[in-house]
Amino acid sequence: MNILVTGGAGYIGSHTLVELLNENHNVVVVDNFSNSSEEPLRRVEKLTGKSVRYYACDVLDKAQMSKVFIRHKFDAVIHFAGLKAVGESFEQPLNYFTTNISGTLVLCELMAEFGVKNLVFSSSATVYGTPRQLPIDESFPTSVNNPYGQSKLSVEFLLKDLARCDEDWNITILRYFNPVGAHPSGEIGEDPKGVPSNILPYIAQVAIGKFDEVKVFGGDYDTEDGTGVRDYIHVVDLARGHVKAIEHIKHSGLKTYNLGTGKGYSVMELIATYEKVSQRAIPFSICARREGDVAACYSSPDYAEKSLAWKACYGIEDMLRHSWRWQSKNPDGYRCAYDSGIDNKVNSTNSDINSNDKIYARVV
Ligand code: NAD
Ligand code: WQD
Repeated sequence: MNILVTGGAGYIGSHTLVELLNENHNVVVVDNFSNSSEEPLRRVEKLTGKSVRYYACDVLDKAQMSKVFIRHKFDAVIHFAGLKAVGESFEQPLNYFTTNISGTLVLCELMAEFGVKNLVFSSSATVYGTPRQLPIDESFPTSVNNPYGQSKLSVEFLLKDLARCDEDWNITILRYFNPVGAHPSGEIGEDPKGVPSNILPYIAQVAIGKFDEVKVFGGDYDTEDGTGVRDYIHVVDLARGHVKAIEHIKHSGLKTYNLGTGKGYSVMELIATYEKVSQRAIPFSICARREGDVAACYSSPDYAEKSLAWKACYGIEDMLRHSWRWQSKNPDGYRCAYDSGIDNKVNSTNSDINSNDKIYARVV
């Protein structure tokens, strides 16, 4: 299939590109590089031996986006582009609503205009709010307590209405649990800017010596060891879930799937396992709970397993071993590549989709 991947230079997007290319799909990437760079795309090319066409373009820029749709004939779109930090969403709620909600609407308008009505959308387990029961299946009530979650749930509602009003649309909503890990090669992985807000990149950066200790948010939850429990899923398993979703999308209507493993691990289990795979001590201290956190959250992945013939394969040790391989090979993330003199800056000419010879910035 010919697939437009928005946000394809990001953490989950770049891993999904590898899996799509390995399955012989054709991909075109649109990314404004606000939370990434061209370097992951170069590495995807290296891993797959295939070239990646991409545009430095904002999904909110309808005029530029329409040129991408004119240039390429797509069968489907996977929409990753968006903002994802819960804490930041309290500081910039309008930015989150505009990017995540309006960005999706601009994309859907273009998809309708160009007759591309197959969409896979990145949603989040955050839409389940505080679960009343575990494991969480897709029929559980939704509720949100932060602007980021609100933006995801709002898009889910809009997409459901869109599919209800026009049955030509096939829309697959994927609710990710906690994506972690990296490609087993250690070539691509998660590269957060500044201080990581998620636990796994934080532990990885303690292991590499960037921070002194992990601050464990709460040791008095009603869980086995008192620390928060989550359903961590290997990013490659998650990426393969997208390949399955795209391959099942024709005539599917609107579908919503959890992508998780169905197993929960506590923060203390993560720290102990990371020590084992990295052979490094991970100092930690137990601190106050983080506002808004729930004690435990894990999925029932049964629906995706049955309907998409998809199942997460990697266990927690693989997730953390691959995280460590990525972190130790790239202590400064993709910035190591910038330091080696490669110019990764996206210049404005790359965005000039008017100019024929620069209609796309091909990764060299
Ligand atoms: P990421 O930040 O690594 O990737 C997002 C990509 O989108 C980045 O490359 C960024 O530059 C790009 N982007 C942002 N705004 C854009 C815009 N206006 N136009 C074009 N490109 C834009 O994030 P990720 O972890 O890969 O997440 C991908 C998607 O999955 C997001 O929608 C996120 O909300 C969702 N999600 C992520 C997680 C997680 O824990 N990582 C969990 C659940 C859902
Ligand atoms: C995991 C556990 C923390 C940091 C978030 C979003 C969710 C989704 C995934 C996008 C919890 C504990 C954390 C730290 C800690 N993203 N923790 N010390 O909160 O489950 O989910 O990311 O959609 O929407 O809310 O993930 O990695 O932040 O936390 O003790 O420094 O680690 O309390 O128990 P979370 P997380």
